[in-house]
Amino acid sequence: MMKLTKLASLMTVLLLSSGAAVAKSNNLASFHTDMSGCESCHVAEKMKDIKKGITDSQTHENEQCRSCHGSYEELASDRLEFDPHASHLGEINCTSCHSGHDKATLTCNNCHNFEMDMPFADTKAKKKWDAGWNQDKIQKAIAQGPVETVDVIIVGGGSAGFNAAISAKLAGANVVLFEKAPYTGGNSMLAAGGINAVGTPQQKAKGIEDTVDWYAEDAMKGGRYQNDPKLVQILAEESAGAVKWLESLGANMDDLKRSGGARVERTHRPSGGASVGPHIIDTLRKAAIERDIEVRVNSRVEKIVLNEDKSVAGVIVHGRHSGYNMVAADSIVLATGGYGMNKEMVAYYRPTMKDMTSSNNVTATGDGVLLAKEIGASMTDIDWVQAHPTIGKDSRILISETVRGVGAIMVNTDGERFISELTTRDRASDAILKQKDQYAWLVFDEQLVEKKKMVRGYEHLGMLSKANTIEELAKITGMSKLPTTAVDYNKYQAAGKDSAFGREDMPLNLSKAPFYAVKVAPGIHHTMGGVAVDTDANVLNLQSWKMEGLFAAGEVTGGLHGHNRLGGNAIAETVVFGRKAGENAAKHALDKK
Ligand code: FUM
Repeated sequence: MMKLTKLASLMTVLLLSSGAAVAKSNNLASFHTDMSGCESCHVAEKMKDIKKGITDSQTHENEQCRSCHGSYEELASDRLEFDPHASHLGEINCTSCHSGHDKATLTCNNCHNFEMDMPFADTKAKKKWDAGWNQDKIQKAIAQGPVETVDVIIVGGGSAGFNAAISAKLAGANVVLFEKAPYTGGNSMLAAGGINAVGTPQQKAKGIEDTVDWYAEDAMKGGRYQNDPKLVQILAEESAGAVKWLESLGANMDDLKRSGGARVERTHRPSGGASVGPHIIDTLRKAAIERDIEVRVNSRVEKIVLNEDKSVAGVIVHGRHSGYNMVAADSIVLATGGYGMNKEMVAYYRPTMKDMTSSNNVTATGDGVLLAKEIGASMTDIDWVQAHPTIGKDSRILISETVRGVGAIMVNTDGERFISELTTRDRASDAILKQKDQYAWLVFDEQLVEKKKMVRGYEHLGMLSKANTIEELAKITGMSKLPTTAVDYNKYQAAGKDSAFGREDMPLNLSKAPFYAVKVAPGIHHTMGGVAVDTDANVLNLQSWKMEGLFAAGEVTGGLHGHNRLGGNAIAETVVFGRKAGENAAKHALDKK
């Protein structure tokens, strides 16, 4: 098949030279039809069967795109300022953006506002992810009965879902994973921090002393002692195993840093500067493919169906092309993530945060909470929502806690520090909201940029103010007291004691030009509350009894983080409890056979 460069230039020539082609080819489908017919995208032995050949995941269509145009790597062009094919989302399906018969949309613009030329696009179009469910069609699908039966159904294709799917498959179950978006990854794909773990070879190599008890104590203290201590204990005990498991699947977790509220460096990240979320998701996607796990995107689960004895019978899934169907299973794992992008749920559970921006993926609309509530599941701490203190002001882009962990200071609009930069997120957010204009600046120098390449990404996005001296930075940002603050901070750093705010770790001073500042404000980052679970990932009903066959893991659950989650504990949770949910779901389904 013709590779990208040839095809792209052909396309450009056609588009530019042929007014007629432009007029007729007003979408990708008609353009390809003009070239070589419907079969250039679809399985099309007979025209009347064309629709039947299209799966919800559009696997064949995506393969066709790649076979002509090449992989994302081959497509990426350094001539573009931002190339969506070289994005931090990894190789998501082509049809995530390039819809054949509808206008193309830019997935990147779920969070960004890129002005970008794209063939046949409506770059401003936004999909509504929290749209309601069609109860009539759901009831019809229930009445028709299952079209398919598997052992374990996983709902949600983020880290918890993939970990559950792989674990269930390894335990001998046949598994299908449903993801409502056209691509997998969920919120995990955007994770910037890392995975907390204690007692790893990485900690030992760096001479870091840490214990399971310290990990658990830090999580409890950070959660204001509202966490379920049994869940916390499991997280701490199994955290090193979680890192080892990810490594066994091909991940690199060799870099270590310290997150807010942790007493030592225990947040593991990929060495070489890759962002943790995309790296883990890429690893899990490949691991699932290698193990023949059926992953179906464009497939939204809209109902959990119960048997008369209240054990699970299956789900109703709304496929983009297949419509509403029942798939039967003895075990279901909910791994749908939180509700940080569902405005109605935030307004209901946490009204004071309803107008805040959110760092979450658009898909974090609380589906799992709604599905479980509808069938009588109990909720834990459902109203606890975390504001992350450092989301780029007026944006949805998270400025990772890593930036403070590695050395940045945080100052108000006058350039004065006002809290230890390594405090927990709830305290840092509250402190920012008490400052003038309710925002702050993170300030750092070139030393930090050299250590953390992710900062180049913020620069690339135009989020950073930059100057050759601290005085100049103070001038362009209006932070008149910044020069004095920098002198004081450098003294504390040299003495190893922060006399102003007791910051416990000051890896860098402010000395190497250029100097940088980025405006930040609190925004929704994590929903601590969710479906009530026990230590085996069973979902609990209103009487706190386990709901037979229903499991949950990840941000959809409540209890582990109490009232405030520590950085690095979300990915740890998705791996530790995702695996547990998958193993137990498989065991339950296989025992029933
Ligand atoms: O700020 C961060 O890097 C976020 C990490 C996390 O939520 O765990």
